[in-house]
Amino acid sequence: MASIALDREKTAALTRQVGVDFGAALTVALAYIGDRLGIFKLMASGPPMTSSQIAGRAGLNERYIREWAATMAAAGYLDYNPVDATFRLTPEQAGVLANEGNTFFMGGAFQYAVACYRQIPKLTEAFNHGGGVPFTDFGPEIVEAIERLFRAGYETWVAQEWIPAVPDIHQRLTAGAEVAEVGCGAGQCLIPVAIASPKSRFHGYDVDATSIERAREKAQRAGVADRVNFEQVAGEDLPVRDRFDLAMAFNCIHDMARPRQVLASVCRTLKPTGAFLWSEANASERLEDNLNPQGRTLYGASAMHCMTVSLAQGGEGLGVVIGKEQARQMARGAGFRSFAELPVKNPYHRIFVARR
Ligand SMILES: C[S@@+](CC[C@H](N)C(=O)[O-])C[C@H]1O[C@@H](n2cnc3c(N)ncnc32)[C@H](O)[C@@H]1O
Repeated sequence: MASIALDREKTAALTRQVGVDFGAALTVALAYIGDRLGIFKLMASGPPMTSSQIAGRAGLNERYIREWAATMAAAGYLDYNPVDATFRLTPEQAGVLANEGNTFFMGGAFQYAVACYRQIPKLTEAFNHGGGVPFTDFGPEIVEAIERLFRAGYETWVAQEWIPAVPDIHQRLTAGAEVAEVGCGAGQCLIPVAIASPKSRFHGYDVDATSIERAREKAQRAGVADRVNFEQVAGEDLPVRDRFDLAMAFNCIHDMARPRQVLASVCRTLKPTGAFLWSEANASERLEDNLNPQGRTLYGASAMHCMTVSLAQGGEGLGVVIGKEQARQMARGAGFRSFAELPVKNPYHRIFVARR
C-alpha cells in the first residue's frame, strides 16, 4: 500500500484535541461524583480548604478528595492556592457548579452525561440492529438531570421574557387563562410560570410516570396544586379541544415518537385565538453551520438520548437539531396557520410561536 504523507501539524492538533476530550470525559465523571456527594456545594459555602479539610467536612476519604480536587483545579473548576495548599470555588465557579438557581448552573450536565454513558451497551446494540433505548431505561436520574439543566432558565425566561413577547397571550395570563404544557417533565417550566400568573390554570402532560409524580409533588410543595395539575398523557392523545389560551412544548417535540401527531393534537386543544410556544435547540438546520462545540453537544445528546428514545418506540427519531424551516413545515402540516420565531435571544433555545 502506498504511504500517504501526513500533515504533522494537523496530526498533532487532532492528537491534542483527543487528549483534551479524554481529560474532559474523566473530568465529567469526577465532577458527577463531586456533584452527587455535595462537594461543590459544601465548598461554595465554606472558606478555602485543604483536601484534608474538605474530606473532614464532607466525611469523605482524603486520598480520593486530594486527587479529585487536583483534577478539578486542573480543569479550572476549582481555584488552587499553592501557598497554603487550599482549594476554593470562585463566585463564578460556584454559579456554574453549585448554585442550582443560576441560569449558568451545569450540575445537570454531569448527571445527563453519566446517565447516557450507562446506556452505551444498549446503544451499541441499537447501532447494530436499529431500535433504541427507551426513556425509562435511563432511570429517574435522567429526569432529574433534565430538570436541573433547564429549571433555572425556565424560571428566569419563560414568564419574564418569552410569554411577554406575545403580548395578547401575556395579557390573558395576567387576567386568567387556561394553559397547557406538553412534555412538561418534572414541572420545571410550568410551576414557575404558574407562580407568575396566579389567576390562571395550568395543565402539564407527559408520558413519563416518574416525571409526573415528581411534578405533582413539586406543585404541592409550591402551594399551586389547586390550579396546576399534571397528567400522565401522551401529547398525541390530549383529551381536550378548543380549550387553551396558551400551549407550550419546550425542548421535547424532537424527542417524541410521533411529533407531527403531537403538534396536530396541540393545535386542536387551542382556542381559535390561542397560541402555541415551542422551543427547539438554538442551532442551524445545516450541519456545516453546527460543526462547533455546541453542535457536538447537541448531536451527541441526540444520538445518546433524544433520538434513541424516539426510535425505541418505533418513532420518527427526528434528532435534537431540527432548525426553523423544518419546524415551520411541521407546524403547517399539523394545522397551524401562522408560524414565526420570537425575537428573543437565548443561548440554548429558539422559540417559535404558532397559531391556529
Ligand atoms: C428532554 S425532556 C424535556 C422536558 C421539559 N420540557 C424540559 O425542557 O425540561 C422531554 C420530555 O418529553 C416527554 N415526552 C416524550 N414523548 C412524549 C409524548 N409523546 N407525549 C408527552 N410527553 C412526551 C418525556 O417524557 C420527557 O419528559
